[in-house]
Amino acid sequence: MNKAFSAALLLALVWGSAMAQSTSPAPDTAVAASAAASAPSDAGAIKSQNILDMKKPDASAEAGYATQTNGERAKVQPGNNAPMWRQVSSGVTGYSSLPKAQAPEAGNLIQPFVQYPGSRLTNAGEAWRQVRNNWLLPYGGALLLIVLGAIALFYWRKGSLALHGAETGRKIERFTPFERSAHWANAIAFSILAISGVVMAFGKFFLYPVMGTTLFGWLTYALKNAHNFAGPVFAVSLLVVIGTFIKDNLPHKEDLTWLAHGGGLLSDREVASHRFNAGEKVVFWGGVFFLGLIVVGSGLVLDKLIPGLVYERGTMQLAHMVHAVATVLMMAMFLGHIYMGTIGMDGAYKAMRTGYVDETWAKEHHELWLDDVKSGKIPAQRSQSPLSDIRPVHASLRSLRKPV
Ligand code: HEM
Repeated sequence: MNKAFSAALLLALVWGSAMAQSTSPAPDTAVAASAAASAPSDAGAIKSQNILDMKKPDASAEAGYATQTNGERAKVQPGNNAPMWRQVSSGVTGYSSLPKAQAPEAGNLIQPFVQYPGSRLTNAGEAWRQVRNNWLLPYGGALLLIVLGAIALFYWRKGSLALHGAETGRKIERFTPFERSAHWANAIAFSILAISGVVMAFGKFFLYPVMGTTLFGWLTYALKNAHNFAGPVFAVSLLVVIGTFIKDNLPHKEDLTWLAHGGGLLSDREVASHRFNAGEKVVFWGGVFFLGLIVVGSGLVLDKLIPGLVYERGTMQLAHMVHAVATVLMMAMFLGHIYMGTIGMDGAYKAMRTGYVDETWAKEHHELWLDDVKSGKIPAQRSQSPLSDIRPVHASLRSLRKPV
């Protein structure tokens, strides 16, 4: 299983780097020549002019150039006059000899008018820019800062959730080696994506003024490439994490009690839960499953890794807006997960690093899970890996098991 998983990750890395860096092929000149021959007649349509054929002196040199009417200007400079540019700026597509298959937007300089959520009715490029600069950056940034502030406040007021009782020294395997490697591959890829994403989006506000153009340019270039490589790895490891943990994240009736009391996190007694409490299940279904799949899907579009999709500017703008919203919400959610998984709860990080928790930890944080272990419904040791430095779990627990 581990060999299969690392092979899959390696494949993802190769796939990601090969596809993400692929550039679009050069246009076929023969095709261009035949297309030019079949250029449409110019009755009323925008006429393209081969700039190299412009033998005539610069039109502006002509007498009365500045006072020419549009009709006159259209004659002397068919490709450069106000009506022509009005059409261009309103998104009209002109004639281009480039094959549509290779250049789906050839002939269209400025996209037609659209209204994205939060933008004015304007050309799509400008509409996207307004959404990004007026909504995604300010509100996305504010949300991340607010969550960070709330976590800092919680830690300052409450501190780490420590164990109340003494450890018994009897250990239970909470995460097998496979679960831990899937988790950390995903966690590391996510961290690379989150840090590089934050710098690409917000770096110009807090890093550029300090670093200056050259250094910031190189940093963002390196991080953009790290982002493109880590993306496919995250995509594969996320699917593995979903498959691995989905069973134990299915809802139980006790989850409602947990949610009703906020898990008892603000009191001094945690509400009993199964292997994963309702809070972890909300992060799993909301963060890992729902947002995770949206982030990966829109990320693969931005990386041009979805076969058969026509990648136009509009596709990329929509994918970017979806990606930006989903990633900011996911980062906000995982800031909480990472806090609990590092300094927020004693023993949590050790569980995902060594795979084992003490019986007391299990009792205080996941009592119903411990009951299942004691009743033999869940084995105390699931993987084959030998317990190197820990007293044999199952032997000692057998003595604890309540007679069925
Ligand atoms: C640096 C980042 C991260 C750290 C330090 C971290 C830490 C932890 C820890 C300590 C646990 C064990 C909690 C327990 O025993 O119940 C855990 C569980 C878990 N983590 Fe993470 N994690 C990180 C990032 C991620 C990411 C990015 C994902 C997925 C996108 C993720 C998904 C999970 C899942 C699915 C579980 C199992 C618990 C459940 O299913 O609810 N983690 N993590």
